[in-house]
Order: sequence, then C-alpha cells, then structure tokens
Amino acid sequence: MKLFNRRVAISGLAAVAGFGALATTVQAQEYPTRNITMIVPFAAGGPTDVIARIVAADMSKTLGQQIIIENVVGAGGTTGATRAARAANDGYTIITGHMGTHAAAVPLYPKLAYHPEKDFEPVALLAGTPILILARKDFAPKDLKEFVTYVKANSDKLNMAHAGVGSVSYSSCELLSSVLDIKPTGVPFNGTGPAMNALVGGQVDYMCDQIVNAVPQIKGGTIKAYAIATPDRNPSLPDVPTTTEAGLPKYQASAWNAIFAPKGTPAAITAKLNAAAAKALDDENVKKRLLDLGSDIPKPEARTQAALGSLVKSEVEKWSAVLKPAM
Ligand code: MLT
Repeated sequence: MKLFNRRVAISGLAAVAGFGALATTVQAQEYPTRNITMIVPFAAGGPTDVIARIVAADMSKTLGQQIIIENVVGAGGTTGATRAARAANDGYTIITGHMGTHAAAVPLYPKLAYHPEKDFEPVALLAGTPILILARKDFAPKDLKEFVTYVKANSDKLNMAHAGVGSVSYSSCELLSSVLDIKPTGVPFNGTGPAMNALVGGQVDYMCDQIVNAVPQIKGGTIKAYAIATPDRNPSLPDVPTTTEAGLPKYQASAWNAIFAPKGTPAAITAKLNAAAAKALDDENVKKRLLDLGSDIPKPEARTQAALGSLVKSEVEKWSAVLKPAM
C-alpha cells in the first residue's frame, strides 16, 4: 500500500512542484501587482532613510507600483532587520540595510536573530557613504590633532552620539575609540537623524556619521567636521581634510547602504528589483541628489547581486575582526 500510494504520491508531488514553479514564474512576470513595503531600520530623515527614499521613488516609477517606506527602529537597526528577515519572501517586503545591520551587527550581537548571509537575498548596493568625525559647533578643539588630544584627556566626561549598538555610527566610532584607546559615554538614538539634532543642539559632544547626513549641517555651519575617514577628500566637502592629511591615518572608515529581501524571495523578483535600482542609479536626478550629499555611486560591476553578496561576506569578516560582542 505504502509503495503504491508513494508512487502515485510522487507523480502527484512532481505535478504539484511543476505547478509551484510555474506559479512562481507567472508571479515574477506579473510582479509587482501591489505596493511594496521597504523597511528602513532607522528614524526618518537619517542617511539610510534619505538614500532609500531617493532611490525608491525612482524604482516605483520603473516597477509601476509604489514602494512604501516603513521606519522600524530599535536596537541599532537589528529590530527592523529581524522584521525583514521574518517577512514573507514574496517580494512585497524588502529592506534598506547597511554595513551595520548586514555586517557589524554580527560580532556585536552573538545572539542576533538573523544572519545577513543566511537569512537575506542580496538585491542591490545603493550608495557608499564615507564616515566623518563630527562635533557640536562650540566644541573646543579646532582641528583633528587637538580633537585627539582633547578626547584622550577627557573621554570619561564626553558624550558620543550613535544610532544604537550595531549601527554604522556606533561601529565606526567604536573603531575610532579603539584607535585612540578611549572610552567615551555612548548616547543612543533611533537613528543619526535625531542624533544630529542633538549634536546641532549641543546636547551631545561628537559623533561618527555617514556623509549623507552631515553635508547640509556642515555647509550650514551648525556643526564641526574634523575629518573624513577616506583616502581622498569628498567633492561635496572640499574643505574637509582626510584623516591621513589631518594626522590620524590609522582611522579609515566608510559605510554602504543596500537593498535586501527575505531569503527565498524568487530570483526573478530580486533580479527585477536589482534592475530597477540600477536604473535609478543611472537617473540624472537621482545621481545628482546622491552625489550632492557626498555618496559614492556604485560602479556597474558593483551593482550585481553577486557583488553585494561578496561585499556582505567580506564586511562581516572585517568587522568581526574589529568589534567585540557588546551584548
Ligand atoms: C541612520 O539612517 O540613522 C543611520 O544609518 C544609522 C547608523 O547606522 O548610524
């Protein structure tokens, strides 16, 4: 009985599997048939939110359906990333994550509820975001050398803002603290949007942040920028020296923001999303807005899903060598 049923069962299974694959193909061809939710794991107005909204608006035009941004904050972005990892893998929930949620969070949270490589499909790299060392505008040190001397002498009295353990601002300033051997008091926010408001308001002393969030404030003279942690100056901030020029070559840090989908999202759907993102990055208006905010636009060879997958793998390894468990 068992064998026969099984044989019958098998041919039935093959038909069901065949039908399943056909359904997925039809689904992918028709995708999207309704709005797509893009989780941004930080507060509105911050760098990840700004990049996501600029690119998603153009992708919506290409895909013919709205990409709706949902800000899901908390735990350095890992709350939103966990929500995305557990979402249905039907293409209607995606996330704009970054170097923090999809790399640095791994060593910092030994019990992290997701793994960037195992629980996500890489979709598209959106922008590279160099890191700046920033301070409130009335902070005493006038240049990076004085900043280093000052924070070394006063770190126990200083408040360093960040967007939660595992965020880019947290991880890149943890790296700075290890280079300078200091232990400032970290002040967490739901994103560097609100953290920047506190820096402009003088409620906190300094922060490491992605350039996208800082350019308007630096140009407006509402905060101080000591240096950019990349080998070259950024065209949007020609007067801001590199850490090497300013005497701290050991401190190099840059981040990136990218779209991911829950593991198992059909390849035809993630390929469609990737193509829409790549098209957005070639749009003159999108490019201008991202470049004006100091972002690095990914080269074509860096825009493939495979390239993003490799980036995540190497960044998990890199930050695992730098950061210790924080939990
Ligand atoms: C944000 O958008 O607020 C940032 O990406 C947070 C961070 O990781 O520093």
